[in-house]
Amino acid sequence: MAKRIAVLVSGGGTNLQALIDAQGRGEIVGGEIVAVVASNPEAYALERARAAGIPGYVVRRKAYPSARGMTVALVELLRSLDIDLVVLAGFMVILTEEMVRAFPNAILNVHPALIPAFSGPGCYGLHVHEKALAYGVKLSGATVHFVSEECDGGPIVSQRAVEVLPDDTPEVLQRRIMEQCEWKLLPEAVSLFCQGRLKVEGRTVRVL
Ligand code: GAR
Repeated sequence: MAKRIAVLVSGGGTNLQALIDAQGRGEIVGGEIVAVVASNPEAYALERARAAGIPGYVVRRKAYPSARGMTVALVELLRSLDIDLVVLAGFMVILTEEMVRAFPNAILNVHPALIPAFSGPGCYGLHVHEKALAYGVKLSGATVHFVSEECDGGPIVSQRAVEVLPDDTPEVLQRRIMEQCEWKLLPEAVSLFCQGRLKVEGRTVRVL
């Protein structure tokens, strides 16, 4: 039986689009995206889901007094949809431990830096690239990792690096990392998970 995938989004959804396109090419082996869940109703990612015929849902952060309340509501929704794999694809809310307990080693996140660099609370979206440029690193990239209770701290599935060029702006670096790293790594990792080929051993993920 194909693994049922939910993709959680907050914004533009280019990583969601990469997953949808990979699915269209038959590259998500053993899995199917059955739901897209947005943390805000204006997320353009919902439009991408609609265009691909994938049901969209909204669980607004602002509708709950705390991140915990929102997390519990999300877990209920994902359980009701019988989800096997949760993918955080540009999801900008830090979820509480209820999520990880409900889906142990079954949540993947894509982060736009080489973890542990430029990661953790406050490191999201364009800020990550601003920090990388301010630090003066010569390489940056993206990481796909399992989500644990520590923000950006779970076992690493895959990483890919690109060069940082002298005239890079945060936007230019972000685009290079998306195109060359994120949009490739995330569909590959999702497909490996759905084939049962990711084995977590402590902090290490073995690809079978
Ligand atoms: C992506 O670069 C993703 O890695 C990053 O936000 C962007 C979302 O773009 N995620 C984080 O920073 C999470 N900590 P998208 O909506 O076009 O996929």
